[in-house]
Amino acid sequence: MTRFSFDLHATDGAARTGTIHTPRGEIRTPAFMPVGTAATVKAMLPESVRATGADILLGNTYHLMLRPTAERIDRLGGLHGFMNWDRPILTDSGGFQVMSLADLRKLTERGVTFKSHIDGSRHEITPERSMEIQRLLGSDIVMCFDECPALPADRDRIASSMRLSMRWAARSKDAFGDRPGHALFGIQQGGLEPDLREESAKALVDIGFDGYAVGGLAVGEGQEAMFGVLDYAPAQLPADKPRYLMGVGKPDDIVGAVKRGIDMMDCVLPSRSGRTGQAFTRRGVVNIKNARHADDPRPLDESCSCPACTGYSRAYLHHVFRAGEMISGMLLTWHNLHYFQEIMQGMRDAIAAGRFAAWEADFHATRAEGDI
Ligand code: GUN
Ligand code: ZN
Repeated sequence: MTRFSFDLHATDGAARTGTIHTPRGEIRTPAFMPVGTAATVKAMLPESVRATGADILLGNTYHLMLRPTAERIDRLGGLHGFMNWDRPILTDSGGFQVMSLADLRKLTERGVTFKSHIDGSRHEITPERSMEIQRLLGSDIVMCFDECPALPADRDRIASSMRLSMRWAARSKDAFGDRPGHALFGIQQGGLEPDLREESAKALVDIGFDGYAVGGLAVGEGQEAMFGVLDYAPAQLPADKPRYLMGVGKPDDIVGAVKRGIDMMDCVLPSRSGRTGQAFTRRGVVNIKNARHADDPRPLDESCSCPACTGYSRAYLHHVFRAGEMISGMLLTWHNLHYFQEIMQGMRDAIAAGRFAAWEADFHATRAEGDI
């Protein structure tokens, strides 16, 4: 059986390109993971998600444990078969989603109890239960159970939260056990404090993981502060393991993160924005609901090879969005995912060729601020 492993092919400055090997297939890095929270990347068939160039999807412990439950997915053969995606799946561990979505949350050393945002029922997630749920789902890359404070928060709160997450990381590792072919990633916390980030990295490396995430970012601190952390945080983590920046981001966030040594990212932005009429293109953001697109026969992006751009005008996309037609979300999501994957491929090629700086300069030069 293929074990989980990571090969680094090339570096260019801090940027890296490589391959993560898993029994369910290879993940080319830097990788962007579309979000399939409720066992679907909304508005997309799995084969369409694959056609955009995705090697791996993200799923969510929190949503799936509530509906349809991890036990039901297990009885039905696991998440891959259930959602008809046979390639790698990474699952987030639940704590972050509890804090942003659930009601009546209560955090203790043991874990977190909360009320479901769907039906108000009471639940508990502990590190042990999170590992069990992610095993029942059949996740290929399992995330440690952690806690992530919203920023800004004071230093004491960030330090004690990070230390709790590190104790939970040790319990996650124990509960995960030895599962050949499956990987467990630790999650670094520590807010915007270099010494707390360093303490967190050391605690995780002591425990030992198959990969390391940078957590606790993109939670209200802004791009400049996030890049400030990414200027040092990746180097605190082992160079021979994948580094995953959780929940990021906009195209320029992704490029800046890869430039600073990040290998994997996930974000709802391309799929969620697709459903609200926002398209990301090489030249900037297009808000398709804007009346100035109503008579425009041009495609969203004349240089894009996705189905939305090769088959339809801005006028059509504007019309179906205004009319509330389902094809609107389908086409714009496809386009956005295609564009995000094109950025990733561009960066992988540029890093391999040692011309990342030139690629990045061109990326910024072709873009306009605001609506184009
Ligand atoms: N998603 C975005 N940020 C985080 C984080 O810090 N922890 C977890 N578990 N998920 C996240
Ligand atoms: Zn397109």
